[in-house]
Amino acid sequence: MLVDPQSPARLEQAIARIGSRDGAGHVRLSPSVLRFLSDHAGAAEWEADFNAMIGYAASKGWLDDQGRVRAHLTFREADEVVSESDFKSAMRALPAGISAVTCGSGDEMVGMIVSSLTSISADPPMVGFFAHQNSSIRAKLLESGRFAANVLGEEHHDVISTFLSAPQGLARFANGSWAEGDHQVPVLTDALASMECDIVCTHPLGTHDLIVGKIRKTACSSANPVVHFNAATHSLVPVQTH
Ligand SMILES: Cc1cc2nc3c(=O)[nH]c(=O)nc-3n(C[C@H](O)[C@H](O)[C@H](O)COP(=O)(O)O)c2cc1C
Repeated sequence: MLVDPQSPARLEQAIARIGSRDGAGHVRLSPSVLRFLSDHAGAAEWEADFNAMIGYAASKGWLDDQGRVRAHLTFREADEVVSESDFKSAMRALPAGISAVTCGSGDEMVGMIVSSLTSISADPPMVGFFAHQNSSIRAKLLESGRFAANVLGEEHHDVISTFLSAPQGLARFANGSWAEGDHQVPVLTDALASMECDIVCTHPLGTHDLIVGKIRKTACSSANPVVHFNAATHSLVPVQTH
């Protein structure tokens, strides 16, 4: 039996509820408890194997006087994680593209700079990104159910700085060639790529929400790519491979 990290007192309580302890590394459980704990009980193949195993244990005299089997306890490693600063150091070493995620139209336009935009699936075409649950774009994003992901390049330095410094809303669109896309989302007309998406899935993960969009329209241009690395923006230089 796999045991999650927990206090010794809590573990003893849990064992007492379903059986009894048998030394440091084992417990005594009735076959019906084991069946109850299994995700596979009821499946014909599992039941046959399980009954054979109990029969074998009985034939060897391994069942106690109450007909209970002896189950080995395996202790799962503690759920240790790195500190937030170690996490950030590692993430600073991950080069990533920079995109402006936008939604809303007219006076209601909102947007946010993300480096978490990622390709998910080609068929159906889907991309995703992670939005902090406190981010000011979140409400509009979920309410409108759509977004545009605009991949930014060297030409978009002012777009990036305005998005990062201006208050949420129209002020973030003061720089750059923004136009309303076919799907009522703000599209940067000279972005390296723009993807107009309908949100098909959201999922909370720690501090962030995964937002997945099905791509309804794309446009590409030949702007010069940039990556975010070690808390700065870098241009790309082709690597000589021979
Ligand atoms: C290069 C870069 C990448 C970022 N990537 C993300 C991201 O993927 N997800 C996210 O929620 N915030 C990301 N942020 C932070 C947001 O752009 C924004 O500054 C922060 O969430 C505060 O947002 P608000 O004023 O839009 O509410 C990134 C910031 C920078 C500078």
